[in-house]
Amino acid sequence: MTEIRYPGTSGPSVETLLTHLGREPDNQFGFVNTPVYRGSTVLFKTLADLDAQQQHYLYGRAGNPTTEGVEAVVTALEGAYRTKLVPSGLAAITIALLSCVSAGDDILVTDSAYEPGRKFSDGFLARMGVGVRYYDPRIGAGIADLIGPHTRAVLAESPGSLTFEVQDVPAIAAATKAAGITLIVDNSWASPLYYQPLKLGADIVIHAGTKMFVGHSDAFAGTISTTEAAWKSVEATRAALGFFTSGDDAYLVARGLRTLSIRMNEHQNRALDIARWLESQPEVEAVLHPALPSHPDHALWKRDFTGSGSLFGVVLRDAPRSAVAAFVDHMQLFSMGYSWGGYESLCLPSIIRRTVNPWPQSHNLFRLHIGFEGVDDLKADLSAALERYRRARV
Ligand SMILES: Cc1ncc(COP(=O)(O)O)c(C=O)c1O
Repeated sequence: MTEIRYPGTSGPSVETLLTHLGREPDNQFGFVNTPVYRGSTVLFKTLADLDAQQQHYLYGRAGNPTTEGVEAVVTALEGAYRTKLVPSGLAAITIALLSCVSAGDDILVTDSAYEPGRKFSDGFLARMGVGVRYYDPRIGAGIADLIGPHTRAVLAESPGSLTFEVQDVPAIAAATKAAGITLIVDNSWASPLYYQPLKLGADIVIHAGTKMFVGHSDAFAGTISTTEAAWKSVEATRAALGFFTSGDDAYLVARGLRTLSIRMNEHQNRALDIARWLESQPEVEAVLHPALPSHPDHALWKRDFTGSGSLFGVVLRDAPRSAVAAFVDHMQLFSMGYSWGGYESLCLPSIIRRTVNPWPQSHNLFRLHIGFEGVDDLKADLSAALERYRRARV
């Protein structure tokens, strides 16, 4: 058993926690797993019970034992006050942002943010009268200069989607705390096993549970974990918007979480092996993986993270679009598709949209998610793709 304990505690290891937390067999006739609870109506026995509104469950939209089991595990992993399970990672982002703002406020969003989060900010929030500005993901303490009188929240993602810049969350948190505003961090890449932003000063941590938590590409989920101070507004926003996660989906998240540690470890090792190998390939211009010493933010990653994820970027030498097609169209094991975090490897040609600083590597960028196929088989698939790319390039 790998001994990954929470920093500064002597409590149970993360593996033990993942195995035992969030299920109560005594309440489920001895069955190991909390089953799928389906239900809207929850019954009250008496008028006094209805008037008192003190039952644990009042109406199914607020949650049920299946969703609460997941929330208990994620709360412990993140060192949070509480967690809410929501229908998707994007819903986690939108609820977290909406919990912070009113018309006339503004927010700061990392230039490396997950694209649909940008779209929500530029479209929906702007329509509601909320200003949106983007910041360089490497800004660190410099973010203090961007925080104005109406700024209410900073949305960070570390490492960033597609380009994998690591953010100096403690420095950003010092600035947001000094200004009394909320720092939200998307922690989907590392999972709470390898990175715990609340302990570095963030107020809200969100996950696209669809990825590593579910782990099998067969369900959507998101989580929002917060400090005590941030909780009330997050839960009130979620409740007001009517977001609910079904027991069926929650069950799949709970099942995925039981093996999160061993899956993360395998993903990490395989991804690093392939990332290192890719660095030595002649068609490769750069590998964007924070755990590699060649990455510009490697020192920051080393300081704040205890491991790395399944996902990284690879920039190939300049070539026309036809070479990109030659690379991806005939892959045998890597498939092309959105999302990540499943057992199957994925390769996604990516286009970077930046508004603060132009993305320096204009050449072809691919995002790889390394799954559980044999590493040598994956290398052979990539090797053949690189050779097709080379032939199409020259
Ligand atoms: C970093 C990150 N955050 C959030 C999301 C959104 O998650 P979902 O697809 O569950 O809405 C994604 C999805 O790819 C993601 O990669």
